[in-house]
Amino acid sequence: MRYYAVSGSAARQRTDCAIVGLYESGTLTGAATQLDAALGGRISRFVKRGDARGKAGEVTLIDAERGPCERVLLVGLGKKDGFGRKQYKKALLAAAAALAKTGARDAVSYLATEPLPETDAYYRARLAAESVGSALYRIPAIRSTRKPSAPALRSFGVAVPEKDQKQDAERGLEHGRGIAAGAALTRDLANLPANVCTPSYLAQQARELARQHASIKAQILDEAALRRLKMGALLSVTAGTDEPAKLIVLRHQGGPAGQAPVVLVGKGVTFDSGGISLKQPPGMDEMKFDMTGAASVFGALKAAAEIGLPANVIGLVPACENMPSGRATKPGDIVHSMSGQTIEVINTDAEGRLILCDALTYARRFKPAVVVDVATLTGACVIALGAHTSAVMSNDDDLAAEIEAAGRRAEDRAWHMPMAEEYHEQLKSNFADFTNSCGREGGAITAACFLAKFTEGLRWAHLDIAGTAYLTGAQKGSTGRPVPLLMDFLIHRR
Ligand code: BES
Ligand code: MN
Ligand code: ZN
Repeated sequence: MRYYAVSGSAARQRTDCAIVGLYESGTLTGAATQLDAALGGRISRFVKRGDARGKAGEVTLIDAERGPCERVLLVGLGKKDGFGRKQYKKALLAAAAALAKTGARDAVSYLATEPLPETDAYYRARLAAESVGSALYRIPAIRSTRKPSAPALRSFGVAVPEKDQKQDAERGLEHGRGIAAGAALTRDLANLPANVCTPSYLAQQARELARQHASIKAQILDEAALRRLKMGALLSVTAGTDEPAKLIVLRHQGGPAGQAPVVLVGKGVTFDSGGISLKQPPGMDEMKFDMTGAASVFGALKAAAEIGLPANVIGLVPACENMPSGRATKPGDIVHSMSGQTIEVINTDAEGRLILCDALTYARRFKPAVVVDVATLTGACVIALGAHTSAVMSNDDDLAAEIEAAGRRAEDRAWHMPMAEEYHEQLKSNFADFTNSCGREGGAITAACFLAKFTEGLRWAHLDIAGTAYLTGAQKGSTGRPVPLLMDFLIHRR
């Protein structure tokens, strides 16, 4: 997809499809009014007839017959005084989905010429490219029958109100395109079945990423290396499977050599059966998505390379399967983490924290400015926040606030949850330093408390994406989250 910025009247811009907005009151946006005049009142007639009502996300395709454009896509923006980032993104997603069903090869959006609080031309353009990329994503389905044809759309323009905003918009489009490419990689990897996307497959994809991008280097540690590093917690999770575990290190060198990196750590459980603490069958297939944290780290590194992010970012991915077998770790087993701390494994299904804790210890060697781990860590997080908001927990309130702010800007939200001393009590063990699992109460928080025992002295945040990583039901599939949040965080840090 080619993205470009334009300025000037919608009445003069040539395109296959002009995307203009309509508010819920039936009020046309400025660009819609201009275009309406150029088309002899064609758009307002639709509105008067009641064929378009301006409800948020509603789309109406109008044949323009003669005029600067072949079609008009009239998009509902909801109430005028409620128009914000969320409504803007929703309108773009709906417009792009509708566009994909047409033969239009080019489209220009005028939605960014409306007032949008707390945003600028860069941001609006970035969100447009991100949203269009996301709406046009298709799961590379493994089917025997012929695949549905790809959308015809080849280029997408974003109109800005003033000519001098074009440059900012172009930068936003470039960033949005990169973020969308990263999120698409995340979704591709996460959507793959666990019999394809194994730890070895992820390692191969890491090498592929390094091959494609000059700024990225990949290093793969095998089980012998993990044993030498004394990663007893990680190794205890992989004990029951025949698939070899990997620790994948990806480096994007965009900043000066001496600059302290941001380390992103992603949970890469390519299938979580629960192990000996076996899960119930309903929904177990969704545990192929338990490597979405890892996939989002791959996606963020790809995006960083694509946009030429001028900072050093390291991706760390502990990758393994969690399976039951005669060699699997049993409830009650005690394991030695790389940090030296011992862990009583009460529940083998609380495996994410076991692989992350050793990866977090490994992260120390990079002397990171910040460490952010990303994981589909707890069902409790889904109960607490549902499918719309990721949880963020941190040993640094300012860092948590930075991440929340990035989530708001990227419209990929996260909510700061507490992680106070009291919760640590729940992880007490009679046999080891602490347990890996405790009661159901505050499950997302106690999981973060467990990780906090390995991040002392680091500036660290944890993102629990169990609810936001993928959709269930008819829409089942990876969302590509939290790549937009991570990228906004990285872009904003400098
Ligand atoms: N991968 C799961 C968490 C999960 C659950 C992600 C549902 C997405 C949807 C994780 O490994 C797990 O099993 N967590 C346990 C922890 C418990 C045993 C302390 C859970 O949430 O039940
Ligand atoms: Mn589990
Ligand atoms: Zn898991």
